[in-house]
Amino acid sequence: MTKLSVNINKIATLRNARGGDQPNLKQMAIDIERFGAEGITVHPRPDQRHITMEDTYALADIVKTEFNIEGYPDQRFLKIIRDIKPHQVTLVPDAPEAITSNTGWDTFENESFLKEVIAQLHEYGSRVSVFCNDDPKMVEGAFAVGADRIELYTGPYAQDYMLDPKKAVASFVMAAHRAKELGLGVNAGHDLDLQNLKYLKGSIPFLAEVSIGHALVCDALYYGMENTIQMYKRQLL
Ligand code: PXP
Repeated sequence: MTKLSVNINKIATLRNARGGDQPNLKQMAIDIERFGAEGITVHPRPDQRHITMEDTYALADIVKTEFNIEGYPDQRFLKIIRDIKPHQVTLVPDAPEAITSNTGWDTFENESFLKEVIAQLHEYGSRVSVFCNDDPKMVEGAFAVGADRIELYTGPYAQDYMLDPKKAVASFVMAAHRAKELGLGVNAGHDLDLQNLKYLKGSIPFLAEVSIGHALVCDALYYGMENTIQMYKRQLL
């Protein structure tokens, strides 16, 4: 079974546009779980442009499924993790000003840093997933630094999918199989949508989890959140 973790950053973006509490992020998280999502993901960025620190702590008391906090492991981020001890932490290499995550880690260049951070996160009791490009070497590096899972950065897959799905997915399948051989769990995320998700799942049936935000929230404007979650879950059967 592949779990659907809904990234709710965009719901916070909408709320922040008016400075009030509409839509109410906590209620949305409760409802998203009730509608069938198996996880909630947030990315509390240093500038708090969508998910705030306050949101992150409030959600920790509410999320009943799997709480996944993603981010770059600076001191601020590590404190949040130490306080909350979420089920899963997804480490991303983004610079603070990045609009969104746009590449995986160079797991060799950052070897000693990642090793230290992951050991720390394991002490807090969280599972650690390392955001990785579709490169078996980087997957091997993630294994070497002690990751439990990788999250494949699927942006390039999504971009090339319309042109040639088989070609677009090939390197992701190779990287996923290398992870599996090493005993790492495989998550995937970025730019996944109702067009490209089913093919990814069909190509990597052992995917543990997908983390989806932007397209899912956009689809919910048309279909409603409850229908949309069911539609995404059907792609993962
Ligand atoms: N995974 C990671 C590491 C991300 O940074 C994001 C975006 O916040 C996602 C998954 C979800 O990507 P999208 O919003 O394109 O579905």
